Amino acid sequence: MKRKNISLSIVSGKGGVGKTNITLNLAYILHSLANQVIVIDCDLGLANLDILLGVTPKKNLKDLLSEDIKPEEIILSLDKTGLDFIPAASGVLDLLEYESDIQFLLAKKLDTILSKYDFILLDLGAGISNGILSFALSTSLRIVIITPEPTSLTDSYALIKILKNHYNQSNFFILVNMVENQQEAKKSFERLNVACQKFLGIELMYLGYVREDKNLSEAVRQQKPLFKLYPTSKACLDLINIAKKLINFTEKTTLVKKGLNLIDNFKK
Ligand SMILES: Nc1ncnc2c1ncn2[C@@H]1O[C@H](COP(=O)(O)OP(=O)(O)O)[C@@H](O)[C@H]1O
Ligand SMILES: [Mg+2]
Repeated sequence: MKRKNISLSIVSGKGGVGKTNITLNLAYILHSLANQVIVIDCDLGLANLDILLGVTPKKNLKDLLSEDIKPEEIILSLDKTGLDFIPAASGVLDLLEYESDIQFLLAKKLDTILSKYDFILLDLGAGISNGILSFALSTSLRIVIITPEPTSLTDSYALIKILKNHYNQSNFFILVNMVENQQEAKKSFERLNVACQKFLGIELMYLGYVREDKNLSEAVRQQKPLFKLYPTSKACLDLINIAKKLINFTEKTTLVKKGLNLIDNFKK
């Protein structure tokens, strides 16, 4: 069966806005909706998908840089029916600012396995380092996570501005996290969208919102995905809506870019 092979990077200007939790739960939800999914922890500064899953990986993304290691050796199966995970290495800050040959090697190795998946989710670190920008440019779609805090809005604007002005990227989905209700989410989205229209000449796409929910912090404490622990919680229902919207979008649009295009970014 031919797979959708859509890659998504989950980014933000500011840390602590919910990227890792959203990535993880979207992976579980997309999988529950009959997709083959792989989630890759690309936050090499503060890798913590493994902590949220309560697992201690033996190998990680960094090991893939050794010539004799195959991608299959670093993949952890979260569900036998097609939900996989590649862990990163915490504290490997020297890798954060990727050299082009390191990215090339990673891309070449990952390429051999990624065609098996419908969705490839990249959990990235916050901010605008070269490594982060390069991953964000390599995917079919980008989801920028914002919260209603003014600092989150200004920092996401800075991130979008760099990706637009320096790399000509103008497709961004916006997900507003930690909101009270839909009105608050729409208001935050509009503030960012107005600034992007006015100063960057681009229109952002509204992906939806995730409500503030104590169950999510509880899931973090228990080191289990929210979707597993509290599938009917507010935040989980919101994430299910978002996953369905993403599936719908990818079915209606013909995306030119499939898989990961790390190598292409370096040709620029
Ligand atoms: N919708 C939410 N409701 C309640 N708490 C949340 C929500 N989203 C995130 N959080 C809290 O924010 C913390 C940071 O989330 P995390 O996914 O690690 O952010 P990031 O990856 O962007 O740094 C979580 O541990 C959780 O306690
Ligand atoms: Mg994170």
